[in-house]
Amino acid sequence: MTVFFPVLGFDHLEFYVGNARQAAKFYETTFGFTRTAHRGLETGSRKVASYVVEQGEIRLVLSTALNSDHPIAHRVLQHGDHVAVIGLAVPDAIDAYKQVTARGAIGVIPPTTAEDEFGLLHYAAIQLYGNVILKFVDRSDYRGTFAPEFKPQLAITPNRGAGLQTIDHIVGNVELGAMERWVKFFEETMGFELLVHFDDQAISTEYSALMSKVVQNGSGKIKLPINEPAAGKRKSQIEEYLEYHQGPGVQHIALSTQNIIATVSQLREMGVEFLRIPMTYYENLEARVGKIDESIDQLAELGILVDRDQEGYLLQIFTQPVEDRPTLFFEIIERHGAQSFGEGNFKSLFEAIEREQALRGNL
Ligand code: FE2
Repeated sequence: MTVFFPVLGFDHLEFYVGNARQAAKFYETTFGFTRTAHRGLETGSRKVASYVVEQGEIRLVLSTALNSDHPIAHRVLQHGDHVAVIGLAVPDAIDAYKQVTARGAIGVIPPTTAEDEFGLLHYAAIQLYGNVILKFVDRSDYRGTFAPEFKPQLAITPNRGAGLQTIDHIVGNVELGAMERWVKFFEETMGFELLVHFDDQAISTEYSALMSKVVQNGSGKIKLPINEPAAGKRKSQIEEYLEYHQGPGVQHIALSTQNIIATVSQLREMGVEFLRIPMTYYENLEARVGKIDESIDQLAELGILVDRDQEGYLLQIFTQPVEDRPTLFFEIIERHGAQSFGEGNFKSLFEAIEREQALRGNL
């Protein structure tokens, strides 16, 4: 693998939403994020209002159009509330853009420098699957809270948070036959590698209705699984996503914690709705995954899943979709050495998702 450009980590994720003020409140009150910056009519932004919310190293931006002509309004009409921008923190946005566009990436925002009293913010963006764009952000000459146009906004009551620390991975759903093309894009254009230990066969159970491959950058900080629908007994959850999202897009965002029991207990208390896992999942769990530090009773009570690979184990749980369309959801993950994504849980996860699909009349 050749590294074409260094990546420091995820910089932010920008959502396009119908009502950014309420979306920001949702992430603050149910996920424990703290508001740090805002732009809107009050700050001189005449076309878009955005709220920046943060927790640990995770930064989300919720943006809405202030009138129907704006492209954000068109995108929200098509996709509903969705992830529109995946921001990567890089030491040199212009170089990253040059490296990947020279290898065939489609430029969306050419190298740009925005300026205010806090310095210079350099960025550029390329096209990813569906209408998602990948933005390179270089903050080395910038000391502001988020970006020019944004005003720092301290929360009225500082949020206690829920122990969420980083973006572990971001999963994209693409149309049938497109997964290989995007894996190739990440390998050949971005210089990412395919995680070889992620085996397609491992998820081919009778319930499986998807194919999945994972690409990651050289440092392993950026992990991007890509799913495509596969023929199953019933309507694939990926097909359901593609139908309601009206095209490819981000399916789920995994957020890491170092204490999933505390985090999930708190998120539940604040109103986050998780997928229900049948109690049968916890029978013989220790025989399947070996010894773990956590109490299985406690995991069962909260509906947390466990999986093991050669390097260790992981604990994970999935939320219900966070909008009315059955599209974007979140995963909470705590890794104990394991570098995989919970393939051993796909069967129980699929069963849980399929029960919800059936309730929606989409099976
Ligand atoms: Fe995941």
